[in-house]
Amino acid sequence: MSASTGLHDITVAVARAAQQPFTIEPARIRGPQGDEVLVRVVATGLCHTDLIVRDQYYPVPLPAVLGHEGAGIVEQVGPNVKDLKAGDHVVLTYGACGHCNPCASGHKAYCKDFYPLNFGGSDAHGHTALQTSEGEPLHDHFFAQSSFATYALAREHNAIKVPTDTPLELLGPLGCGIQTGAGAVINSMKVLPGSSFVAYGAGAVGLSAVMAACVAGATTIIAIDIVSSRLALARELGATHTVNSREANIVEAVREITGSGADFALESTGRPEVLEAGIEALCGLGTIGIVGAPKLGTRASFDVNNLLLGGRSIRGIVEGDSVPQVFIPQLVRLYQQGRFPFDRLVKFYSLEQINQAAEDSTKGVTLKPILRMAAN
Ligand SMILES: NC(=O)c1ccc[n+]([C@@H]2O[C@H](COP(=O)([O-])OP(=O)(O)OC[C@H]3O[C@@H](n4cnc5c(N)ncnc54)[C@H](O)[C@@H]3O)[C@@H](O)[C@H]2O)c1
Ligand SMILES: [Zn+2]
Ligand SMILES: [Zn+2]
Repeated sequence: MSASTGLHDITVAVARAAQQPFTIEPARIRGPQGDEVLVRVVATGLCHTDLIVRDQYYPVPLPAVLGHEGAGIVEQVGPNVKDLKAGDHVVLTYGACGHCNPCASGHKAYCKDFYPLNFGGSDAHGHTALQTSEGEPLHDHFFAQSSFATYALAREHNAIKVPTDTPLELLGPLGCGIQTGAGAVINSMKVLPGSSFVAYGAGAVGLSAVMAACVAGATTIIAIDIVSSRLALARELGATHTVNSREANIVEAVREITGSGADFALESTGRPEVLEAGIEALCGLGTIGIVGAPKLGTRASFDVNNLLLGGRSIRGIVEGDSVPQVFIPQLVRLYQQGRFPFDRLVKFYSLEQINQAAEDSTKGVTLKPILRMAAN
């Protein structure tokens, strides 16, 4: 840290323009204020949401430091931090205001300020904590962390303490993609023992849902994707059936396997035509959750009477309705017992290899890239 400026010299990956590669740059970050914690990032997962934001599906102002699945070690705490201290291992998750109606009723993923707090590109006053080494402000506060960086500022409420006996470099994705898939099954839809569950999309989110459906006791678990290697892994992780939607009609396949349609389903492809098929393939009283994020303004349609007369439900799900302080440690315990082997999804890269990681994720070669920061 520089004594004259109070700024730390760090390295970041910057998204400067849509459809363009991230650039690795030196930067500076200020120290923690209020309830903030400065975290030395050990590793950060790359989620599909980082890529759709880089490509401006969601108009986060650029240039920006993205990254929202950080894991690291608390380096310094702000004056109002109560329960965290330097040296604690933490997983960084989404930001929420903590006092609006959804927050106060335990539904922080539906905070009324979720969009500005996670996608606003600065703090509530328009200030950033990051700047380039020339002093140009860099948009940040992405998911209240911006963790494609060697250091990140989070708030106490979104830095979740995790045990030190589990490899920290693995845990970042629990803060978004993995808690989303697993939480959609366990918290949002409450998938029942003996039921049928369909994962539309067998990416990181969909496969986390498959593993969680096993934990929940579903007995028919169908994974649907267009990448055969992902379907093969889905079987290893507990899917009882797989369907390649390039080769089969999804609705017919699900109806044939389940007899009457799916009790529960999760749409994580972000494609409206897959969602429409998923609604069609529900059984009476069935529920489909939507987590896949298409461009803002995307519409899908459904037969109103099919929904009405069958008592079927469609619901949007953010972050698997996770209360991260509770759910992330639960997922760590399931992982430790071998019942939630999310390490099977992971491939490690260095921060400098972020564009390779993004390309491998887009091509379907890597399920969950994790960027490891060089020791510093
Ligand atoms: N709602 C939330 O809180 C939340 C949180 C995290 C991620 N997301 C979103 O969830 C989605 C999934 O994220 P991910 O990290 O698993 O991405 P991913 O790219 O790893 O997974 C998407 C999968 O969908 C498959 N797919 C694409 N088109 C298909 C089709 N026509 N039929 C069947 N499968 C198809 C892809 O092959 C891929 O395996 C993204 O849209 C992401 O932005 C939402
Ligand atoms: Zn709130
Ligand atoms: Zn994410």
